[in-house]
Amino acid sequence: MSTYPISPALLSKPIIHPTLDTPLDLGSLTLKNRVVMASLTRNRGVVSNPVNATYYAQRASTGLIVSEGTLVTPQGTEWIDCPGLYDERTTAGWTNTVAEVHKAGGVIFAQLWHLGRVCHPHLQANVPNVGPSAVKAQGGKFRLLQGQPGYVTPVAIEKPQAYAMLYRHAAENARRAGFDGVELHAANGYLVNQFIDSKSNVRTDAYGGSPENRARFALEIIDHLIAVYGADRVGIKLSPSGGYNDMQGGEPDLPTYTYLVTQLAHRGIAYVQVTRYLDDFSAGGAKVDVLALGQLLKNSTTKFLVNGGFDAAEAELWVKQGKADAIVFGRPILATPDFKDRAIRGVQPNTDLKFNEFYVPKDNNPALGYTDYPFYQDGKVE
Ligand code: PHB
Repeated sequence: MSTYPISPALLSKPIIHPTLDTPLDLGSLTLKNRVVMASLTRNRGVVSNPVNATYYAQRASTGLIVSEGTLVTPQGTEWIDCPGLYDERTTAGWTNTVAEVHKAGGVIFAQLWHLGRVCHPHLQANVPNVGPSAVKAQGGKFRLLQGQPGYVTPVAIEKPQAYAMLYRHAAENARRAGFDGVELHAANGYLVNQFIDSKSNVRTDAYGGSPENRARFALEIIDHLIAVYGADRVGIKLSPSGGYNDMQGGEPDLPTYTYLVTQLAHRGIAYVQVTRYLDDFSAGGAKVDVLALGQLLKNSTTKFLVNGGFDAAEAELWVKQGKADAIVFGRPILATPDFKDRAIRGVQPNTDLKFNEFYVPKDNNPALGYTDYPFYQDGKVE
C-alpha cells in the first residue's frame, strides 16, 4: 500500500497507454510497470537524509527508481552535496531512504558514480584528478563553484583494477543499505565512459586500443557487481552518442558498443539502459541507432531500457512495438511525483519545472523544488 496515494479523480480516468502499465520481469524482480525514473543529480546531501527519502518515496509508483549518481569514493564533484556509498555514514543514510521507498511499494537501484577526469580540481583534497589517460576534457561546466577552474589534465590511472574495487565496495555498501540492485554509470563522459571512449583513452596497455580493451574496465566492474549482487540485480547506463563531457566526436563507435553490449547480454545482467541522441545533451556526438544495440539483447534475459526526451505517447509506442522493454524518464518524474499514473492515462505531467532549484535549494531549504512538486489534484487543470 503506497504511503502516497494517487488522486481518485486521476485513477478514474481511462488508461490510454496500457502497455506502459504492464509488469516487467527483471531477473528475480517483477517491476510493476514500464516507467523508470532516471538517475537525477539533485545535490541535496552527502549523507542521504529524510528529505531525500520523501522525494524518492513520493515517486515509488514508477516501476524502477534509479538513484542519483552516488559516489564510490569521496571525490571532487561540482555537486558538493552529492551523496556517497563509500563509508558507514553514507551507507547508513541510504538505509533509511531505501526503507522508505520499499514501504511505499517501490524498487530502487543505486547508481554508482566516479567522475574521473571531470572531477572538480578544487574539491579533490590534494588528490589529483584521474582518468584513463592524461587527456583533458575540452570545455568546463562547473556551474556552482567560484573560480570556474575548467577541466584539468588528469593523471593516468596506473592500476584500473584498484578503481574497479571502489565500485565493488560501493556495491557491498549498497547491498547493506538494502538497495534492490546497482546500476553502473558508464555514460555521459564520466570515468567508465572515459575508458570506453577512444578520445579520452589513449592507453597502450590491456585497457586501451581495441574495442575489447576499452570495454575491459567496464566489464571488470560489472563482474565485481555481479559477484556482490548476482547478474540479475545489475544494470548499466551507456550513452553511445557521446557529446556530453567531450565524448566521441563524429563517427559512432559501433564496434565498441556492439562488443560491450554483447558481453553484457552474455553475462545476463538485468538491463542495459541506453540514452538516445539528444540535440542539446549529445551535441558534438554521433547519432547512434540505439535500436541496433537493443537487437543484441534479443536472445538474452537482459532487458533494454531507453532514455532521452520521451513523452508518454512515444514511450507507449516503443514498448508496444517491442523496441524497448521500459522507458526511462528524467525531468518529467522530477517534477511529477505521480508521473506514472498520469502517463498511462495521457494526463499532462507538471510543466512548471524549477530549473534554478534542480541543484541549489532555495533559501537553504532542501525541500523546495524537490519534494514540493504537486500530485494531481481533483478539479485542477495543469
Ligand atoms: C550533470 O551534473 O549535469 C550530470 C550528472 C550526471 C549525468 C549527467 C549529467 O549522468
